[in-house]
Amino acid sequence: MKILVTGGLGFIGSHTVVELQNQGFEVVIVDDLSNTSLSVLDGIKNITGKVPAFEKLDLREKNSVQDFFKRNQEIAGVIHFAASKAVGESVENPLLYYENNISALVYLLQELQKKEAASFIFSSSCTVYGQAEKMPITENAPIQTAMSPYGNTKQIGEEIITDTAKVTDINAILLRYFNPIGSHPSAEIGELPLGVPQNLVPFITQTGMGLRNELSVYGDDYPTADGTAVRDYIHVVDLAKAHVIALKRLLDKKNLEKVETFNLGTGTGSSVLEVIQAFEKVSGKKLPYKLVGRREGDITEAYANTDKANTVLGWKAQSTLEEAMASAWKWEQKVRS
Ligand SMILES: NC(=O)c1ccc[n+]([C@@H]2O[C@H](COP(=O)([O-])OP(=O)(O)OC[C@H]3O[C@@H](n4cnc5c(N)ncnc54)[C@H](O)[C@@H]3O)[C@@H](O)[C@H]2O)c1
Repeated sequence: MKILVTGGLGFIGSHTVVELQNQGFEVVIVDDLSNTSLSVLDGIKNITGKVPAFEKLDLREKNSVQDFFKRNQEIAGVIHFAASKAVGESVENPLLYYENNISALVYLLQELQKKEAASFIFSSSCTVYGQAEKMPITENAPIQTAMSPYGNTKQIGEEIITDTAKVTDINAILLRYFNPIGSHPSAEIGELPLGVPQNLVPFITQTGMGLRNELSVYGDDYPTADGTAVRDYIHVVDLAKAHVIALKRLLDKKNLEKVETFNLGTGTGSSVLEVIQAFEKVSGKKLPYKLVGRREGDITEAYANTDKANTVLGWKAQSTLEEAMASAWKWEQKVRS
């Protein structure tokens, strides 16, 4: 069965392509290479022994999307990762984010609605919950006003898909990721941020390699056990496996609603200092860091209630924070060697 993975050469996409291939799916990747490189294809091949089909395509080009679907009519499902994802950049350049994250989604759905049946998996985010009142966060927690254009594109994206599914043969699953980290245990693929990393773990591993002088820990006066902010860090391989399970659920018509939503996290919150400790343990290195003031827009804590994903989707995260950190560190060392 042929599956389109948009943004399939990116961080989460490439790990999902590996899991899809491992499960016997035929994968076609489209990616415009705006935040990745072609070498990821080699990494995928080194793991699975199969090179996925790949097309360099910018999903903002409506004609290219139409043309792609004309040439690939047998596509049964789409996992849509392609998006711009830097929160700060989205504040500086909101229209770039609305164009990339919204137009591309609309063009894809316009093609999918022509099919008799189509399965669509969407990369959403726990940012839709903002600072939730109750921990752990369930899927029923209220959606809060987005704190950035990026976060808003995830909320609008969910609404566009829900409205479209109501009146078409599209069935969809919205996956709200908590904080994906780590890399494939083979270190053949991993997270490759361009420029200064926006996320904690690549910043830590780059600092561990001496590429950055020190890590700034934003805020040590949060109402948490050690004063630093708490997040739910999930191993990217666990996350990737959830996509395959979600896709099969739609293809096998096991979904109970036209659009279903699942949190993907471990269910455990870890503070920034705990993440640093996990790094120090797996690397045997002391991480230089300084405590600085809170960063605007950061929330205190977010971790998932995973009951729905566990019981309804039949998925549970397996890896510990230390295992995820060890894989991230292995990858960083390989990339810099
Ligand atoms: N990484 C996270 O922390 C996180 C958390 C929550 C949600 N998400 C969402 O998950 C998805 C994947 O995230 P990621 O971390 O793998 O990001 P990534 O940047 O590594 O991957 C996205 C891929 O999409 C490609 N792309 C971007 N715009 C495109 C376009 N117009 N046409 C074709 N390809 C395009 C990029 O080149 C990149 O390879 C995104 O939608 C992101 O918003 C990520």
